[in-house]
Amino acid sequence: MGNSSNKKRKVAQKAIEYVKDGMVLGLGSGSTMYWVLEELGQRVQSGLNIQGIPSSVKTQKLAKEFGIPLTDFSHVQELDLAIDGADEIDPEFRLIKGGGGSLLREKIVDVAANKFIVVADDTKLVNQLGSYPLPIEVVRFGWETTKDRVESLGCKALLREENGEPFVTNNHQYILDCHFNQIEKPHTLHNQLKSMVGVIETGLFLDMVDLVIVGREQEVTVLE
Ligand code: 5RP
Repeated sequence: MGNSSNKKRKVAQKAIEYVKDGMVLGLGSGSTMYWVLEELGQRVQSGLNIQGIPSSVKTQKLAKEFGIPLTDFSHVQELDLAIDGADEIDPEFRLIKGGGGSLLREKIVDVAANKFIVVADDTKLVNQLGSYPLPIEVVRFGWETTKDRVESLGCKALLREENGEPFVTNNHQYILDCHFNQIEKPHTLHNQLKSMVGVIETGLFLDMVDLVIVGREQEVTVLE
């Protein structure tokens, strides 16, 4: 197993300690979450009784493969715990998410949880958000005009592509990756973006995180 996968597995094992019998879980997306899902699946096989709501089609597929029982928001309004990855984490636990393009469903799931745990390796810790391009989900129709409005805030916004075609989210929309380099005021930026017609959601996850579990070379640390 590679060094990075090893860190992710250890983080996943730590995160599972917060999962209790009977919980309804929000299941985040990404490569760190792969290991959380794998661990959860093993616990379920050993008798752990939980249900999960997946935050992406990919996570839904993996959860099914690992035998994790799933539910949805037509049956459950509130989640006990959400576990999810991140692309950047600042000292105030503000996040950039959406590297995998699942930010909208992730935010809906993570915000519905009574407790939100972020799982990441130490490369995701930053002093200031913004080196990682901020993903925002935008409506496909007229995305070119939305991009112009977004760029008026001082970034270069690139339409995300996959195999030479626009990347399409699970909600059938597009992603703009916004290169700000430094985000001085995440709340202000989030509010400005959200007030723009055509913008559906931003990858800024603010005032949501309770705990960050960080995988380092030698150890796993829990930041509260
Ligand atoms: C997907 C996300 C992921 O949580 C984020 O990209 C982290 O992924 P990884 O654990 O693979 O680094 O926001 O939209």
